[in-house]
Amino acid sequence: MFITFEGIDLSGKSTQIRLLKEHFESEKKKVIAVREPGGTVISEKIRDILLDKEHLKMEDLTEFLLFSASRQQLTKEIILPHLKKNYIVLCDRYYDSSTAYQGYGGKVDLKVIKSINKTATGNLIPDITFLIHISIEESIRRKKLMNKNEDRIERKTISYFNKVTDGYLKIAKNDKGRFVVIDGTMSKDEIRNRIILSVNKFHQKIKK
Ligand code: ADP
Ligand code: TYD
Repeated sequence: MFITFEGIDLSGKSTQIRLLKEHFESEKKKVIAVREPGGTVISEKIRDILLDKEHLKMEDLTEFLLFSASRQQLTKEIILPHLKKNYIVLCDRYYDSSTAYQGYGGKVDLKVIKSINKTATGNLIPDITFLIHISIEESIRRKKLMNKNEDRIERKTISYFNKVTDGYLKIAKNDKGRFVVIDGTMSKDEIRNRIILSVNKFHQKIKK
């Protein structure tokens, strides 16, 4: 089973991945969690290039191709081998992030994104994608609480992030079979319970 988590920064993805991983571990299931961009030696180096605050000249297309390169390496080196060994793989961001950020936010041609997303992942499609939806205002509020340093992507404008959040909702609407959209302002436990409910429903569906 391959489960991905999407949403803007600070929407609660890592929190929910940790909780779901603990849930599977308590059921004695084999599970790993990975994050994008990163997760392999090469992908972490690409991550450093992508998030470096000094790389202000980076073109949206360059950005997209680097995210895709990092993703290809992670998919081939970690995700696919673990799925083959019957692990549950939880991924913090996957190709929908590129569609939302570089496509809807950065205006890279959506057809190009779709095609390269498919090539970079060998068309490995997640079984379920949880979109944890919060507004940009809520993200900023959480950032202030955390005193978090911003990386290059997080320094983009509010209008960029509004396009990203709208983009995410469009992507989810066009792929209702795969996406579960969750209101990220609910409590951590409520979100966790909704996620576990969806995972259990998915299991029942594939058993039939
Ligand atoms: P992400 O991985 O999406 O960037 P995190 O899981 O790291 O998000 O959460 C970002 C911040 O928001 C953390 O301080 C976390 O404790 C807080 N947070 C996570 N989920 C919720 C929630 N449901 N309600 C309020 N705050 C939350
Ligand atoms: P990260 O610190 O991992 O953010 P988060 O903890 O919120 O996941 O940084 C990744 C940043 O890169 C984040 O701002 C989203 C952005 N991103 C893209 O713009 N496109 C992509 O394809 C991916 C995977 C991430």
